[in-house]
Amino acid sequence: MNKNMRPAEMQRINTPALAEAFIAEQVEAVRAQVGDKKVLLALSGGVDSSVVAALLIKAIGKQLVCVHVNHGLMRKGESEQVIEVFRDQMDANLIYVDAADRFLDLLAGVDEPERKRKIIGGEFIKVFDEEARKLEGISFLAQGTIYPDILESDGVKAHHNVGGLPEEMEFELVEPLRLLFKDEVREVGRALGLPESMVERQPFPGPGLGVRCLGAITRDRLAALRESDAILREEIAAAGLKIWQFFTVVPDFRSTGVRDGKRAFDWPVIIRAVNTVDAITATVPEIPWEVLEKVTSRILAEVPGVCRVLYDLTPKPVGTIEWE
Ligand code: XMP
Repeated sequence: MNKNMRPAEMQRINTPALAEAFIAEQVEAVRAQVGDKKVLLALSGGVDSSVVAALLIKAIGKQLVCVHVNHGLMRKGESEQVIEVFRDQMDANLIYVDAADRFLDLLAGVDEPERKRKIIGGEFIKVFDEEARKLEGISFLAQGTIYPDILESDGVKAHHNVGGLPEEMEFELVEPLRLLFKDEVREVGRALGLPESMVERQPFPGPGLGVRCLGAITRDRLAALRESDAILREEIAAAGLKIWQFFTVVPDFRSTGVRDGKRAFDWPVIIRAVNTVDAITATVPEIPWEVLEKVTSRILAEVPGVCRVLYDLTPKPVGTIEWE
């Protein structure tokens, strides 16, 4: 039987008890596959890689080596959360690589979106490969492949994917989630004790904030992007709104404003929010006016270099979810 085909009789994992049963089964399977060998995992902090990490920590503890590469394009607090959850709480073997300067230096002056994606993807592989070479005795590579990745090899994720790992890496793969749908992965993550903020995390593109800091990325606009995005997330959470994906975007043009009685010439922040099932089409939710006003006034008061806030009303199609 093809181990990448979901058996017809496989039950949908939608209760904690079913998740526990899946975990027990996979813990055994991983132990049998790996023995006393070491396993490497690129841990981005996204749902899939986080759930794989938690599962493997349960199965093989410190035989798992997690590498978290901070490419400088993470959202506010994300790398910190990876360290807190996996190193501090789960006592994982976690290597944290702060590669922000490397990525930002390479990206300086590059304004073409696909070129930016290629640089980020290529550099990610390079950094990960360098870390892997420093380690001894790694035989396996764990990956957060899930069933839609296998089914939709030409789907949205594959279309965009930049974060693939080098094919010449000679590792055997460990992919314990390969037969699960996303909601099942979340259920398993919950049963493994991951925080809700990680299990319910929004989709986040591999190139991260790199495709939301439009045009050539600069550190000041990246900081404005990160801060405004954090404010938006705080206010959407405080208002209890359920939106599939939302974030801010900072373009590379400025507009005129007035601050403290003086003329300003600063960046705008664009709010983007969508609801969708499959990311192929998307609609724009009606965010309550008070929430938009609150977000706007906070961004204008708290984020340096920003003098205007806009809400993008464009459905997909015609506009893609991301701006680049
Ligand atoms: P678009 O912009 O094509 O996005 O409507 C659809 C979904 O894909 C995500 N996205 C990416 N994911 N690497 C990724 O892993 C990328 O380069 C990338 N670009 C877009 C986007 O956030 C949305 O959820």
